[in-house]
Amino acid sequence: MGTMLFQILYLVGYFFTNTFQMTKQITSLEDYQSTYKYSIENPENFWEEQANTFNWFKPFDKILEWNFEEPEIKWFVNGKLNITYNCLDRHIEVKGNQVAILWEPNNPNENVKKYTFKTLLSEVNKCANALKAKGITKGDRVIFYMPMVPELAIGVLACARIGAIHSVVFAGFSARALADRVDDAQAKMIVCSDYNNRGNKCIQVKQVVDDAMDLSCNSIETVLVHQNTGGEVNWSDDCDVWWHDLVDNQSDVCEPEWMDSEDMLFILYTSGSTGKPKGVVHTCGGYMVYTCYSFKNVFQYKEGDVYWCTADIGWITGHSYIVYGPLLAGATTMMFEGVPTYPDAGRFWSICEKHKVNQFYTAPTAIRALMAKGDEWPQKYDLSSIKVLGSVGEPINVEAWEWYDKHIGKGKAPIVDTWWQTETGGILITPLPGITDTKPTFASYPMPGVQPVLVDTEGNEKIGNGIEGLLCIKFPWPSMLRTTYGDHDRCCQTYFSPFKGYYFTGDGAKRDEEGRIRIIGRVDDVINVSGHRIGTAEVENAINAHPEVIESAVVGFPHEIKGQGIYAYVIVDGNINSNDEFISEVLKVVVKEIGPIAKPDEIQIVSGLPKTRSGKIMRRILRKIASKDISNLGDISTLLNPEVVDEIIEQAGLKA
Ligand code: PRX
Repeated sequence: MGTMLFQILYLVGYFFTNTFQMTKQITSLEDYQSTYKYSIENPENFWEEQANTFNWFKPFDKILEWNFEEPEIKWFVNGKLNITYNCLDRHIEVKGNQVAILWEPNNPNENVKKYTFKTLLSEVNKCANALKAKGITKGDRVIFYMPMVPELAIGVLACARIGAIHSVVFAGFSARALADRVDDAQAKMIVCSDYNNRGNKCIQVKQVVDDAMDLSCNSIETVLVHQNTGGEVNWSDDCDVWWHDLVDNQSDVCEPEWMDSEDMLFILYTSGSTGKPKGVVHTCGGYMVYTCYSFKNVFQYKEGDVYWCTADIGWITGHSYIVYGPLLAGATTMMFEGVPTYPDAGRFWSICEKHKVNQFYTAPTAIRALMAKGDEWPQKYDLSSIKVLGSVGEPINVEAWEWYDKHIGKGKAPIVDTWWQTETGGILITPLPGITDTKPTFASYPMPGVQPVLVDTEGNEKIGNGIEGLLCIKFPWPSMLRTTYGDHDRCCQTYFSPFKGYYFTGDGAKRDEEGRIRIIGRVDDVINVSGHRIGTAEVENAINAHPEVIESAVVGFPHEIKGQGIYAYVIVDGNINSNDEFISEVLKVVVKEIGPIAKPDEIQIVSGLPKTRSGKIMRRILRKIASKDISNLGDISTLLNPEVVDEIIEQAGLKA
C-alpha cells in the first residue's frame, strides 16, 4: 500500500515539474555577460529558471524571502523535494549504467570501484533503510567520521534520502574535537570505519570514536562501523554495529522523504575567529540548485567527462563538488582514498592518466608540494585529457599558478581559481574556463546571481575599479548558510552584524582596473593552513590546556608550502625542565585537543605578550615578528609593556 501510494504521489509530483532537463551552461563571454546582467536585474526569475530544471515533488510558491538585518533567508518557499532523488533517481532512465562514483584506492595495486547511478541508488537505499532500522528519522543528526571510502558518500546520501541531517567530521580531527561536534549537534549516530589507509600508514579511526564516546557523546545510540581494513577493533555490544551486518541485507528500495526547501540538509563545523567551531547549516532546495548550477558552469562538464576533485568529504569542497554538485549534474565524480605522494610524487598525475581525467580540482598547497618534488613527475604521464584545472581553499601564488598551467595544463587547460567558503555552500567568484579570461592569483568574476562588493571599515561600498576593501555580498544566493546550528545569534554577529545589510565574508580583496577580484586573505583571526581553516583562538585554547602554560597567542605567518603556518607565543608558568621537552608536550596537547592539522610550526616561549592598555593582545605586532618583518611595527610606545616587543624580537633572532 505504502509503495503504491508513493508511486501515485511520485507520478503527481512528476507532472508538477519539468521532465528531465539540465541546468543551462554558459557558452561564451557574451553569454556570461548577458546572463550576469539578467541575473542581477531579475534574480528571482533567474533562479526560478535554474530551479525549474530539477524535479520538485511540490513546486515552490515563492522564490525568495530575505532579510540580512535579522538574518532570515528562504529560497524556493514551500517547495518539496529530495536532493537524492535529483542526484540519483532522475538520472536512472537515461544514464543508469553510467559510472556515478569512481573510487581510486590508496594502494594503486588494489581494485578501483565503480558505482553506476543504478548501483549507487541501490546502495544509498540500503543504507537509508539501515539508518531507519536503527531509529533514525527526519531531522535526526548523524555524524560521519570516515576516510575517503565510497561508504562515506553512500552514508551521506542515505541521510539525505530519509531527511536525517548529516554532519561530516574530517577524520583527522581528534577525539576531543569529534566529541565537541557530536555534543553540539546532539547526534544520535556516528558512522565510522575501523581504520584508514593513508599513504603507507594505517590510521586508527574506530579507536578515536571510542575515545570520543569515553569523553562524552551521551546522545549517541549507535555507532555504525564500516569494515575497511579488517583490523582488530574494540567492540561495545551496547551500541556498535557492523555496516556489513546491518546495511547489506536491507531492501534496496527506499522512498525518499519529501523535504521542505528550507529543511536542513547538513551541518558542517568550521572555525571562526572566536570560540569553538560553529555548525554551518545548509538547507535542501537552495543548496541543490546552486551546487548543480555552479558545478556545470565552473567546470564546463560535458557528458562522458571524468571529473576529479581531490578534496576530502570532511570539508565543504567535498560536499559540494565531490558528492552533490557532480551527482546532481549527472557527472562521473572520482573519489580518491589516498595522498598525493604515495607511492610516489607522481600519484595524482598517474591517476589523471589512468582514468583520463577531464577536470582536475585541487588546493594550492598540493600544487606547491608537488611542484617542489620536481617537473619530472608530471612529465612521466599523459595528461592530455585534462581540459580544466581548478584551485580552491587559499590564495594561489603566481609561481604555483604558472607551474600548474605549464606542467599540468600544458598551457591549454584554463585554471579556475575558485573563491568560496563553507558558509557560501558553492563557488561564488571564479573565472569560467574558456569563457572569461584568467589572471594568476585572481578569482576574477562573480558567478551569475552573485553580487560581491568591497566595503571600507565603516561599511561604505567602494565603487569603481583599482580599489581594495573588505569582501561582502549584498544579495542572497541560494546556497548561503541559513544559520549556525543551535545559535542563530552567533550567525547574526559573525556574518551580518559587522556591516549592516551585507553578508561579511571575513576576507579582504582587491578589484583590479578591469574589475577582476583578487582575494587577499582573512582579515580576522582565522588562518588558512594548507587550505584548512583554523581559528587562532581554538589553537590558543588547546595550548592553554597544558598545565604549565599561563597564556598564549597564536598567529599565522607565510609558509612556502602550506600557504600559512601557525606561530605560537607561549608564556610558561615557572620553570620547565627543557624547552624542547616542553614544546613537544605542547604539540601533543594540540594534537589531542584538535588534531595534527592544528600543530604549530613554531613555538616561541616568551615572558610576556604585547598588550594595549585595555589588555588586548597586539596581534599585528606578533604577526609581523612571526613573518620575520620588523620593518614597520608602528607606534609601540602606547603599549602596556613595550619592552616585551624588543625581547620577543631578539629571542626570535631578528635583531642584527
Ligand atoms: O580566506 C578564504 C579562503 O578560504 C576561506 C574559506 O575556508 P573554508 O570555509 O574552509 O572553505 C574552503 C573551501 C571553499 C575563505 O574565507 N579561500 C577559499 N578559496 C580561496 C580562498 N582564498 C583565496 N583564493 C581562493 N580561491
